[in-house]
Amino acid sequence: MDPASIEVALRADVAACRDASALEATRVKYLGRKGAVTALLRSIKEAPPERRRAIGAEANRLKVLCEQLLNERRSQLGGGDRNPFYRAPLDGSLPAFDGAVGRRHVIAQTINEMKEILLGMGYTPARGPEVELEYYNFQSLNFPEEHPSRDLQDTFYVSDDILLRTHTSPVQVRYMEEHTPPLKIMCPGRVYRNEAVDQSHAAEFHQMEGLYVDTDVSMADLRNDIAIFVQQLFGADVQIRFKPHFFPFTEPSVDVDMTCHVCKGRGCAVCGQSGWIEIMGAGMVHPAVFRAVGYDPERYTGFAFGMGVDRVAMIKMGIGDIRLFLENDLRFLSQF
Ligand code: PHE
Repeated sequence: MDPASIEVALRADVAACRDASALEATRVKYLGRKGAVTALLRSIKEAPPERRRAIGAEANRLKVLCEQLLNERRSQLGGGDRNPFYRAPLDGSLPAFDGAVGRRHVIAQTINEMKEILLGMGYTPARGPEVELEYYNFQSLNFPEEHPSRDLQDTFYVSDDILLRTHTSPVQVRYMEEHTPPLKIMCPGRVYRNEAVDQSHAAEFHQMEGLYVDTDVSMADLRNDIAIFVQQLFGADVQIRFKPHFFPFTEPSVDVDMTCHVCKGRGCAVCGQSGWIEIMGAGMVHPAVFRAVGYDPERYTGFAFGMGVDRVAMIKMGIGDIRLFLENDLRFLSQF
């Protein structure tokens, strides 16, 4: 190899060294018995006399250069923080990183899990305001004027006709006003009720609502979607049952129970020995709601279901007190 090529290769090889053994291998490659610089030195004997001096000078220059480059690289690699590849030896006496990173609130985690399931079932997320018109929260949903839940005792009023929404159902109405069927939406969000606060009642909590409207939606479709949803959320062996109920905005209306995910329906402390846990309200959208949004109730049918996210989180995680969700006590929150 000619001296210029040797130098190019040498510089590249040294720069590529990552540790002491690579440096030694590079030294051998150039200065070892069969090394390139050594070979150049040996070639002097065979060279024409007038070239010997020049070859000798080049070979010696390369030899010095090689040692110099290797030394520089060695000090780089061994040189602590000046070396990008350097790792300090592990000091076992240092205190460990305490792992105090943030995390999502258990309610946000639960909402996300529900969202993920509903997305997979074709539901699109929809949102609406928490400070809501009385019209959307009550009138449009077929609540009679004198319905007890409109009472100041249950609802936080901001003014005569503005309130903090008491459920996520007004989002249905707002969405239907803006869209024509078929539609399939989920409405997660925070709701407010003027409740006496105890371990199972809070004045602010969260709901997840589902709504499906098309031309031939039936109660069987409702049952099917709720079963799929609940089984994905709580386990494939969970069964559901409907009990007749009343909501102004659905007819017929049902309360949905699921078999207790802990005892599988045999009866335990979690389900109060009944084997069943009440999980949501549901029903077929009332024709009056369709009329309020300008849909023809002769043409369209639909179902809706709604549930408390906090309650779902409590059931799923075995949490006994709804107030814990609002206290922001890290000893509680960091468990989820
Ligand atoms: N909006 C009802 C509630 O807050 C729940 C519900 C939603 C019931 C949809 C039926 C259909 O109690």
